[in-house]
Amino acid sequence: MNLNNIRKEVMQTLEKSMDELLGKYLKPIEEIWQPSDILPDSNSPDFIEEIRDIQGHSAEMNYDLFAVLIGDTITEEALPTYESWLMDMDGVNQENKNGWTQWVRGWTAEENRHGDLLSKYLYLSGRVNMREMEVSTHHLLNDGFDIQTARDPYKSFIYTSFQELATNISHRRVASLAKKAGNTLLAKMCGIIASDEARHASAYKNFVKNIFEIDPSEAMIAFEDMMRKKIVMPAHFLRETGGRIGELFKHFSDAAQRTMVYTTQDYIDILNSLIKEWNIENIKGINEKAEEARDYLMALPNRLQRLSERVKIPGKQFQFKWIAS
Ligand SMILES: [Fe+2]
Ligand SMILES: [Fe+2]
Repeated sequence: MNLNNIRKEVMQTLEKSMDELLGKYLKPIEEIWQPSDILPDSNSPDFIEEIRDIQGHSAEMNYDLFAVLIGDTITEEALPTYESWLMDMDGVNQENKNGWTQWVRGWTAEENRHGDLLSKYLYLSGRVNMREMEVSTHHLLNDGFDIQTARDPYKSFIYTSFQELATNISHRRVASLAKKAGNTLLAKMCGIIASDEARHASAYKNFVKNIFEIDPSEAMIAFEDMMRKKIVMPAHFLRETGGRIGELFKHFSDAAQRTMVYTTQDYIDILNSLIKEWNIENIKGINEKAEEARDYLMALPNRLQRLSERVKIPGKQFQFKWIAS
């Protein structure tokens, strides 16, 4: 049997407990929060006052942090790219309404609230050049992404495990910085988004844990392969008007490093946490190639740690077209 067929079989095995997984990792639609639960209600007499409040806090917000918030929003808004990629994975069958298709739909539907909430907030903030932000989003969707998982569910779920942890960290950090600045609304928004990301991370980590149980050698090799290629962020093709594909990403990620919203250290910490979570050190019964993959993975955090000490983050702020002058 070829590798793809084994992967399909593993996906079918996991699919058997999908009802339980959906119940455990996704929330009932009519009970989960919606953006309107958090944002000012335009039917309320206090609406204008509440917008003034948002605008006051936005005007005071640290420049880099505000740019990171916009970049995070655009990343969330590129959700159609992520959904179409997951739907195309081996083992997902869109004609079959159950199983993996339902997972991808349910996950997408929950994620959709993130970009929705953040972009409405930014529209009200009075500090965003909305057209610039929208064109960046348009470009990012049009450019897609290249995360090098191909259609492989093992690699894809390793990627999403990593990515949901990364977004959990970054939204949580924005929340705590906003809280420190007295911006309770933004703190609340990013806090609840972060907790969705944490729940989604648990789901994907669980999928991978199960894959390790059924097909340990191939899971190990997939994990190694993803880490060798490095986990690229979903917005790595980010650009602004007149810019080239991917040109803006470095500035966005430098701003995230300067504000400590997402750093090289976080990348290493996530890797370490996944190595622990999946018990990489003690996985039994793997073939020689997988043993080599494990050796690579176990040595990687220290290697990255040494490299990270040499990374210099430019101290100078970049002027983002997104931010209204
Ligand atoms: Fe999200
Ligand atoms: Fe997410």
